[in-house]
Amino acid sequence: MCGIVGYVGSAQAGPILLDGLERLEYRGYDSAGIAVLSPEKGLQVKKAKGRLKVLSALVDEGRAVEGTIGIGHTRWATHGQPNDVNSHPHLSQDSRIAVVHNGIIENYVEIKEYLIGKGIRFRSETDTEVVAQLLAYHYRKTGDLMTAVYRVLHRIEGAYALGILCADMPDAFIAVRKDAPLLLGYGQGCSFIASDVTAIIKHTREVSYMEDGEVAVVKADGIQVYDALGQPVEKERCTIDWDVSAAEKGGYAHFMFKEIMEQPEAVRKTVHPRLKDRRVVFDELKVTPDEIRGLQRIVIVACGSSYHVGMVGKYNLERLLRRPVETMLASEFRYCDPLVDEHTLVIVISQSGETLDTMAALRQARSLGARILSIVNVVGSSIARESDEVLYTWAGPEIAVATTKAYSTQLVLLDMLGLYFADILGSVKPEEYESIIEELQALPAKMEEVLENTEKIKYLASVCFNHNSIFFIGRNLDYALGLEGSLKLKEISYIHCEAYAAGELKHGTISLIEDGTLVVALCTYAPLFDKSLSNIVEVKARGADVVALTDDSHAEELRKTVGNVLTIPDTHTIFKPSLGVIPLQIFSYYMALQRGCDIDKPRNLAKSVTVE
Ligand code: G6P
Repeated sequence: MCGIVGYVGSAQAGPILLDGLERLEYRGYDSAGIAVLSPEKGLQVKKAKGRLKVLSALVDEGRAVEGTIGIGHTRWATHGQPNDVNSHPHLSQDSRIAVVHNGIIENYVEIKEYLIGKGIRFRSETDTEVVAQLLAYHYRKTGDLMTAVYRVLHRIEGAYALGILCADMPDAFIAVRKDAPLLLGYGQGCSFIASDVTAIIKHTREVSYMEDGEVAVVKADGIQVYDALGQPVEKERCTIDWDVSAAEKGGYAHFMFKEIMEQPEAVRKTVHPRLKDRRVVFDELKVTPDEIRGLQRIVIVACGSSYHVGMVGKYNLERLLRRPVETMLASEFRYCDPLVDEHTLVIVISQSGETLDTMAALRQARSLGARILSIVNVVGSSIARESDEVLYTWAGPEIAVATTKAYSTQLVLLDMLGLYFADILGSVKPEEYESIIEELQALPAKMEEVLENTEKIKYLASVCFNHNSIFFIGRNLDYALGLEGSLKLKEISYIHCEAYAAGELKHGTISLIEDGTLVVALCTYAPLFDKSLSNIVEVKARGADVVALTDDSHAEELRKTVGNVLTIPDTHTIFKPSLGVIPLQIFSYYMALQRGCDIDKPRNLAKSVTVE
């Protein structure tokens, strides 16, 4: 979703801002712009609809704007069409204040009407422009920019991360945050702001995360932060421990493929530090064994692929714990008057830690007394900070919009959490616990094995890519796996596809199966292998082309019915989705490649969805 970067130092700001925006491209955007300030040229704003290369050409790769201070933005349209005018930065009427904004100003209509009543003319349809105009209005009235900023903050409602550049303040810009991520970067003789660290990691790894209500004055020689009441705040700094290469393609054609290939290593990093003496150990958890025994219910909330992790988690955690586990879409949870209380553990899953619906669900669950444990990839993100407990996935930066390695690390961490609780509750027999741990240790190597055999998947994609309607079917864990497989395929290849619980097909959906319909049948869940086989026979009888996925032990049996069988190594039942998802990711990748799609940045999608 929208991205922000800001720089002040001694170098020319234009190229640095463009480079930062390029690193934020993965979040998804439809237009981009920069504002650069110099004593001679004043405030120069350039913006353009479309890919960053359009903006880059407009400003001669940054050389056509002059100045060592500036702010930049990639926009993902919410209020107003994606076009040049609605792109950020937005200017005040006198063109002396420029603003970039992530989030939504919910009361912008009434503020806009108020300002129009004062004779102010608006150029765009955006909610953001009211911030620039209101700021200029109060600045004119008070003569003091910081006073004007605080007045604006009292007036606007909603979520926002803001970068503010004023022609009268040539050595500093202002940053503000409420419910939208923004971090401060400390360089050598220069300072930065960014909506995520990938934008500035090339220049500095020393950062601090802004809190809600804070206002920062960012200068080349330092950053001063103030709280909501204007009192100075000492910010804690932290050092980002991954380097710039982690956020680059490293020889792969696409980030998505690189991230698919990184999964064994990411899972290894996530699992191994938490395994001691063949037991799962979470040193980072504060919850006591007694509290775990007192839990009556677990509710998992998340969006998108993180929700699909939760769907697998429902099956696995109920199996391991014999306690009720419910998985809900965060966007539904927040509006359903949920039944959670202090005896409920709410597990929040989010790669970015910034998804607005997930964040809202977290806050609601917390207000109802539930204990919140989050599984998050981005350290210091809002969800991580607002949770009682955080388990970090160590997937590293994930750049492709379609998640792969974050999904895999979330999944394994959720399984480990189940194992950890099961150990305390005594709900799994010691022999089974042992065998699960053994498979957990072997999981990264088995993932590597799957990744060594991609040729067949590539071939299948080359013969399947012309299908325009695809069904994923499976039962139990395979149904949950199918949800992710079908999402992956539709989001990057734009092929219509749906996942169905195989047993439900005959209640309607089977009417859509006709000659040549492609069905991806998932048969990795051994206890229901025979039932899944019957469903394959049903769809084949109606003319479907079937591609099936199973484990090594069942491959021979399945090949008697299906010609195209993909396999994964045998493993414990709970880890079948962890292996099974990899061929589905690779299948989606090659299907999208065959169709010439923009794999890392699919149309209309964003990496981090910070609007409702
Ligand atoms: C977006 C991304 C998905 C992701 C979902 C939830 O839709 O494109 O890949 O699964 O948001 O994001 P989160 O960061 O909360 O896991």
